[in-house]
Amino acid sequence: RTEPVTLQTVVHVVYRTDEENLSDAQIASQIDVLNRDFRARNEDRAQVPEPWAPLVADALVEFELVEVTRTKTDETSFGADDSVKALVPAQPDRLNVWVCTLGGGLLGYAQFPGGPAETDGVVVLNRAFGTVGTAEAPFDGGRTAVHEVGHWLGLRHIWGDINDCTGDDFVADTPPAQQANTGTPEWPHITCDNGPNGDMFMNYMDYVDDVAMFMFTAGQAARMSATLSGPRA
Ligand code: ARG
Ligand code: ZN
Ligand code: CA
Repeated sequence: RTEPVTLQTVVHVVYRTDEENLSDAQIASQIDVLNRDFRARNEDRAQVPEPWAPLVADALVEFELVEVTRTKTDETSFGADDSVKALVPAQPDRLNVWVCTLGGGLLGYAQFPGGPAETDGVVVLNRAFGTVGTAEAPFDGGRTAVHEVGHWLGLRHIWGDINDCTGDDFVADTPPAQQANTGTPEWPHITCDNGPNGDMFMNYMDYVDDVAMFMFTAGQAARMSATLSGPRA
């Protein structure tokens, strides 16, 4: 595929306080980040270590904000149990993005391809959404939504969710890694005999801070493309 695919995107703001009722500007800032990062137009891609620079990929996915819904609730926070989706149902044939307060330090979660239509989409913590307004460091770069949409398009965490080097993300050009990286790691960080370059912790599918993640690989772009022509066609 050489032409971008545009995802019709609906953002569902679910709020209790006025502050949680995010501004249109904050929503726009998130859509801007998605359009930038999924086309590899982010300036910080220049920080990708030189051996991996050739892997940096344009995922050829764009986002069009087609609707914003705003729903008031008495709930102080939601969990990863889809309860926010019971309140505001998913709209078919769109990328649904719920934005609300989440408990337990959760930044967001996503439904993989192939799940039920009623709960399809991604959920993002309001304080980790967009780059202005209530977005809070170190997750104020809009990268939580980038990560979650990566899952929604079929990507796994790059360490494969098993912390003993046997985990697999089913992408050939991302190296094996022992476990999630957090914060702003120093390169290289070697685990799982993956020297000299080590973990690709600057990948959107690791757990580092927003300023420390800035790439999808060609293999990940191919996997997302396969999702878009298969289960999400
Ligand atoms: N699913 C992950 C979590 O809830 C999201 C990680 C996003 N990382 C980031 N730098 N924004 O913890
Ligand atoms: Zn994740
Ligand atoms: Ca891999």
